[in-house]
Amino acid sequence: MKVLEERIRQEGLILSDTVLKVDSFLNHQVDTRLALEIGREFGRIFADEAVTKVLTIEASGIQFAMATGIALNVPFIYAKKKKAVTLSEEVYSAPVHSFTRGETYQVSVSRKYLSPSDRVLIVDDFLATGAALVGLVNIVRESGAKLAGVGCVIEKSFQEGRRLLEEMNVRVHSLARIASMSPGEIRFIEESAI
Ligand code: G4P
Ligand code: NA
Ligand code: NA
Repeated sequence: MKVLEERIRQEGLILSDTVLKVDSFLNHQVDTRLALEIGREFGRIFADEAVTKVLTIEASGIQFAMATGIALNVPFIYAKKKKAVTLSEEVYSAPVHSFTRGETYQVSVSRKYLSPSDRVLIVDDFLATGAALVGLVNIVRESGAKLAGVGCVIEKSFQEGRRLLEEMNVRVHSLARIASMSPGEIRFIEESAI
């Protein structure tokens, strides 16, 4: 998505070879028009999947899941993160290890909102190590729902998330794919090369 790549070039702050800050338009302050355009793009990409629900994880996936839900005219769900391992019968849950925070938390979704008749599209802001997204895929599988795919706004292709998801036979589509970056330089994987 060209407009997204341009914004990343203009406003993204590359803090190291692995961390990109996009707080001015995606992640903290949110450009609402861009978020809606991102939702429409995911809607077009996954139009043939008969999606019934969009799923994300709190917090920074929520605006894109909402925009995608609007585009597809379906509800969205955000999985909740909990520190305590209070496992309950009422939720589907998966452990997620956060490499950035060095801790494991529990991600959960109420059983009321996913069922085998659903076709779920997972949406998130970043595809990095894939830890959080693998947790969401496992939740969808536990529910018996069909997984339509995973849509990510920004993929850091030099990290292992995409490979992990593809190994689970998941269709992955990212709107901006970063081949490499370092302070002062960012390279995208061209869409024509995908
Ligand atoms: P993921 O690939 O499945 O997202 O999992 P990973 O464990 O690698 O990422 C941990 C968290 O860090 C995720 O946020 C992810 O969106 C975020 N993240 C990873 N790389 C970057 C980056 O380069 N820049 C920014 N700004 N964020 C990054 P989260 O756990 O979903 O938390 P939240 O921020 O949404 O609350
Ligand atoms: Na996120
Ligand atoms: Na995040």
